[in-house]
Amino acid sequence: MPDGEGRTGRYGMEGDVNLTSRRAAWLERNIGPEARRWLEEDQRYFLRQSLSTPCLNVLARCEGIYIEDLQGRRYMDFHGNSVHQVGFGHPRVIEAIKAQLETLPFCTRRYTNLPAILLAKKLAEIAPGDLGKSLLCPGGAAAISMALRLARMVTGRFKTISMWDAFHGASLDTSSVGGQRLFREGAGPLLPGVEHVPPPEPYRCLWGCGGDCDLRCAHYIEYVLEQEGDVGAVIAEPVRATAAVPHPDYWRTVRAACDRHGALLIFDEIPHGLGRTGKMFACEHFGVVPDMLVLGKGLGGGVFPIAALTARPNLDVIPEHALGHYTHEKSPLGSAAALVTIECIEEEGLAERARELGEHALARLREMMTRHPLIGDVRGLGLLVGVELVRDRATRERAAEEAEQVMYRALEKGLSFKVTAGNVLTLMPPLTISRDELDRALDIVDACLAEVEGGQGREGPP
Ligand SMILES: Cc1ncc(COP(=O)(O)O)c(C=O)c1O
Repeated sequence: MPDGEGRTGRYGMEGDVNLTSRRAAWLERNIGPEARRWLEEDQRYFLRQSLSTPCLNVLARCEGIYIEDLQGRRYMDFHGNSVHQVGFGHPRVIEAIKAQLETLPFCTRRYTNLPAILLAKKLAEIAPGDLGKSLLCPGGAAAISMALRLARMVTGRFKTISMWDAFHGASLDTSSVGGQRLFREGAGPLLPGVEHVPPPEPYRCLWGCGGDCDLRCAHYIEYVLEQEGDVGAVIAEPVRATAAVPHPDYWRTVRAACDRHGALLIFDEIPHGLGRTGKMFACEHFGVVPDMLVLGKGLGGGVFPIAALTARPNLDVIPEHALGHYTHEKSPLGSAAALVTIECIEEEGLAERARELGEHALARLREMMTRHPLIGDVRGLGLLVGVELVRDRATRERAAEEAEQVMYRALEKGLSFKVTAGNVLTLMPPLTISRDELDRALDIVDACLAEVEGGQGREGPP
């Protein structure tokens, strides 16, 4: 299979492909003998899986917006698995975890602890509307699982509607509501009753709106709700990983449809909540309050794995049923990290900063679009920015190989980011990034685009 083939939609939604000749060439040029030895050890002792293995490089440190490899090379991390709203190793986060380690590092079930209570209270304060009763757990997929379970138990309905191409976690239930073939294929029977609909994606609208959205995508959800008649929940990310921003009325339309048909609305803000989009929560851009909001990733300050489900109080009606029951259900360490992370986002004005810097980045990228024919679309919300590369602006053919070339070129110049859906350069820096650093990163993107357009993007020297 040629390098670029089969990645759009099928394999590339979540990230880059690790087995291409361009990857091999990058390794050849950039990885020294010590890192190579460790990469071989990694392959020897870890089960292989798509997207994660074989690994690209070996990291030794991370700090602020930077990751550093064994050879001491630093990269601005515009990927960071979406955990780095406050940057890596934020001193207040590290301090809070250290202090907690010395007093109560674990909380046995049947007891509670102050950091967990204070975190749940804080979530109730900052969450939109009356969202205010939470459950904590160690990861995003587990939190989505709890949301699905709660929706079933409260509504007495098991069916869901979610989006094709979405990712909600790698467990069997979350892969079922997820819409990515990579996570569904070969897994055997998934959950029953999981309906999928096309995602709102103005640039590639299935209804052919051509960017002039008339909300047919939202009305289709109501159509499915009506046809099925017994859907328990609609679950989606308010803004997707491709940085495709739905029409301002999209979520209001879906919210109203859910209310008419007795379905709950669950927003997965695991990667993009907590300031990333320029507001504390992405759903606030749309003036819509879900019935459940799921957070994770950066909640633990880029250090500790913790996720949260925050629900409307009127859903707290099944105390006799188990929803989570996770061993690390009320982690004092995770809670201490999360509490101070939220405080940093508030006190350092990181959401506002994301809004301002995001506008700056979009303006610069739109200017680049006038010079780079490879850029088909520039979009985003706050510091979630997508640059979609196409071979031809009229046909919008995905420029997957070119995107990969740009990515490896950028790595060589000290910038790391993810390619989503095969051809979307997804730029997600820490919200603590300075304007100068952001400009430096955008200069790198600019230069790499020029190189690839100039035909220098193949496996030649950087
Ligand atoms: C939108 C979304 N939901 C859920 C998850 C799952 O989170 P975790 O990897 O912590 O299980 C992810 C992770 O990438 C995600 O991006």
